[in-house]
Amino acid sequence: MSIIEEAVRKTAERYQRPAPMGQQPSGRPRLRRVPPPATETANVRRFQPVTLDRAVLDDNSILPQITDPGALRGYKILRTRLLRRLEANQWHSFAVTGATPGEGKTLTSINLAMAFAQDPNTWVVLVDLDLHRPKVASYLGLNNSLGERGLTDFLLGDATFEQIMYSPAGMDRLAIIPNFQTVANASELLASPRMDELVQTLEAETPRRVVIFDMPPVLASDDVLAFSPQVDGMLLVVAEGLTSRDSLKSAKSLLQEMNLLGVVLNRSEAQDDGAYYSYAR
Ligand SMILES: Nc1ncnc2c1ncn2[C@@H]1O[C@H](COP(=O)(O)OP(=O)(O)OP(=O)(O)O)[C@@H](O)[C@H]1O
Ligand SMILES: [Mg+2]
Repeated sequence: MSIIEEAVRKTAERYQRPAPMGQQPSGRPRLRRVPPPATETANVRRFQPVTLDRAVLDDNSILPQITDPGALRGYKILRTRLLRRLEANQWHSFAVTGATPGEGKTLTSINLAMAFAQDPNTWVVLVDLDLHRPKVASYLGLNNSLGERGLTDFLLGDATFEQIMYSPAGMDRLAIIPNFQTVANASELLASPRMDELVQTLEAETPRRVVIFDMPPVLASDDVLAFSPQVDGMLLVVAEGLTSRDSLKSAKSLLQEMNLLGVVLNRSEAQDDGAYYSYAR
């Protein structure tokens, strides 16, 4: 039994539901445009400077403040496996989603972005693409230090690219696009020419980059479906004790048309390898 099946079985047990889920998630390769020629990441430009609040990072279990060795190891393994997969296929971006609310998508997106940025050859942009419950800025303790201009302002034409890009101090290879506003027509905005412009601009920034989009759950809205043509792959977060067999099945069926890079098992109580996060394909 895979770790994901095991986690879903535990959820079913917790809610006294029968039978574990069926199959492993499957990905499908996708043809992509030819990437631009490689350049030095040392020349990557910096954006509006911000200082992350270490106490807030600590409270929210965010790298580099995590001390739990199992969690650190889990994120590093996840980073390396994803990086290898992205590089092998010349992919640069992925969206983090899940089946239902609260599975740890935002926490996973942020910690993965931090872990990628610790790699000396990788430049990372973390984009809060949740137009319903944006949380990236508050998890990083940035709510009070930014000019409150974020993704939605750009999508509505009220801010430029430079006005929504932030460079955290001490993290040379990380940039963040936060979001502060919720909107009713999220999926339309995510499929709009303005969103397309943002994706193209990010692609032009530097070739050796990873763009991580933190998204809402796939079953809660059509946002992920609307945005999926803009991204190279999807990462599905499953929470042990939270994600039900039925919702995981429905999520997988919706993601069938997309390139599923992997499944992250969050909140695992498994102690065998000490992994806090596991990665399955
Ligand atoms: N592995 C974990 N261990 C402990 N707490 C966790 C873990 N993962 C997430 N959490 C906590 O669970 C809550 C929800 O996490 P998070 O916001 O990342 O979920 P989400 O899937 O992005 O939620 P939403 O669907 O609302 O966007 C947060 O308080 C977060 O700190
Ligand atoms: Mg979230």
